[in-house]
Amino acid sequence: MNLVLTGSTSGIGWETLLALLPQFEKVYLPVRNLTKAETLIQRLPQKEKIGLIYLDLSMLASVKQGAAELLQQVDEIHVLINNAGGMYPAGKRSTEGLDLSFSSNHLGHFLLFQELLPALIKGQAKIIQVSSEAHRIAGPPERDFSLRKSSNTVSSYAKVKLYNILFTNEIKNKYASEGLIAYALHPGAVRTAFGLEAPPWAKGIIAFTKHFFISPMAGASTTIFLATTLKANLKNGGYYKNKKLSSTSTLARDSKLGKALWEFSLEEIERVLKNTVGIKN
Ligand SMILES: NC(=O)c1ccc[n+]([C@@H]2O[C@H](COP(=O)([O-])OP(=O)(O)OC[C@H]3O[C@@H](n4cnc5c(N)ncnc54)[C@H](OP(=O)(O)O)[C@@H]3O)[C@@H](O)[C@H]2O)c1
Repeated sequence: MNLVLTGSTSGIGWETLLALLPQFEKVYLPVRNLTKAETLIQRLPQKEKIGLIYLDLSMLASVKQGAAELLQQVDEIHVLINNAGGMYPAGKRSTEGLDLSFSSNHLGHFLLFQELLPALIKGQAKIIQVSSEAHRIAGPPERDFSLRKSSNTVSSYAKVKLYNILFTNEIKNKYASEGLIAYALHPGAVRTAFGLEAPPWAKGIIAFTKHFFISPMAGASTTIFLATTLKANLKNGGYYKNKKLSSTSTLARDSKLGKALWEFSLEEIERVLKNTVGIKN
């Protein structure tokens, strides 16, 4: 069994890696900081099972190249965990011009999924998105999913976490017939590095409230549960909290919105990659 896990170099992702490493034959970790990842995995007893791949989710060109590198190493993926993400200041852009919250939390993972699709289908994979209860406060994105016009950091974060659930639903709608299964989850309010890249005012609030948060190990428990529980005992397209099926906001169940986000994401990828030197879409 092969696992691909993003965001493994900190917090929830690191604890997920520690728990799942013994249970998989190979574990592939797309990371944006190879030096940090290499240092961290040095202390793991089964580090020979790990494949590190440079991949910055906020940069589509990097996702495309990282995914190609991954596919040279593995042609069958059984679990993909889209865990990486965070809260970034509204208006902050990647060098490709994408809103950082949008690309790091949604579009990078969306492209990663598209690129890995043959290996995911071959492995009849589970695709797990680490979303958040924050999705409940997301207002309707209307026609602009890109967050280019957003000036509110919290509202941008809420929207991308809504996108994680809409994406999950659409994977179910489009690929259940090909054997793919998708879940989204809320990990809890977890004491991690989350918020360190947020604007100073948000960083301050998060730093204060973190004293009341659960440990990263506890925060990883629902991800681990979904990765290791038999598919027959889980609901395709389900949103889980505390290892239990939960309900989502009404917007997150809007299939028209999910389809529109999917189409928008494909168009954005084509538009950005067309303008990226040396990368052919
Ligand atoms: N903590 C909470 O209370 C909470 C609540 C609800 C949902 N979540 C969600 O849980 C997930 C994990 O967050 P966490 O709390 O564990 O935060 P964290 O400690 O900050 O970890 C985030 C991970 O994502 C990686 N990452 C961020 N941007 C990336 C990019 N552009 N490309 C590749 N990797 C990137 C980070 O890499 P580096 O090590 O290089 O920084 C790190 O490994 C996120 O999706 C977050 O939205 C967290």
